Amino acid sequence: MKGITYDYMEQYIRSLIEEHNEPLKELEDYAHENNVPIVHKEVARFLELMINIKKPLKILELGTAIGYSSILMNISSKGNSEITTIERDEKMIAAAQRNIEKYGFADKIKIIQGDCLEVLKQLNDKYDLIFMDAGKGHYNHFLPECMRLLNKDGIIIADNALFRGMVASDDLVERRKITIVKRMREYLKLVSDNKSFITSVIPMGDGIAVTTRRD
Ligand SMILES: C[S@@+](CC[C@H](N)C(=O)[O-])C[C@H]1O[C@@H](n2cnc3c(N)ncnc32)[C@H](O)[C@@H]1O
Repeated sequence: MKGITYDYMEQYIRSLIEEHNEPLKELEDYAHENNVPIVHKEVARFLELMINIKKPLKILELGTAIGYSSILMNISSKGNSEITTIERDEKMIAAAQRNIEKYGFADKIKIIQGDCLEVLKQLNDKYDLIFMDAGKGHYNHFLPECMRLLNKDGIIIADNALFRGMVASDDLVERRKITIVKRMREYLKLVSDNKSFITSVIPMGDGIAVTTRRD
């Protein structure tokens, strides 16, 4: 068990998900060969599911990397979503921009360069779905800005919420990761304790936390 679920469980769940076609397959292969972190296969499927249910028109993503999840979300919405994605690493931005242009998503996916914490403060649009996948140690700091930017019935999906199991058990915590773990616990406490939100933490991939406002 390397992650947060049993290997046999993860393998079985993954075996149920069909392979993607191009361009997603090509991006997955590139990410694998170049050690670029992209969403786990079952989390990608979960995003596709949520987009099919919610049909978000405006999506905000924290953490672009090579543009894989942005492209996945846009394809999943059948091109009907506008995606704004934030990334601070120049090399990642260059790779993502290339991919977005190469595969014809330039009018649907906009990258904003910068640190999420700074960029979030400057945004004023409202989003139907916010996908947090950058700066694990700052989700608790991103939350107030994300709530400000979230549409009334919007949802926040936070990836890596259980961070290799460390968030759930002190026995697993690596010393160097203690700050990230504490802050992720703080994030989960904030979204769980606040009576105006409803949150479900799902032990899938590296753990995801899905939050929306109560009616
Ligand atoms: C896990 S990867 C994103 C993967 C992408 N969502 C996907 O699945 O295709 C996280 C990315 O966030 C970027 N990042 C980390 N902390 C950040 C921050 N505070 N502000 C902006 N980008 C950040 C990293 O450079 C990295 O490219």
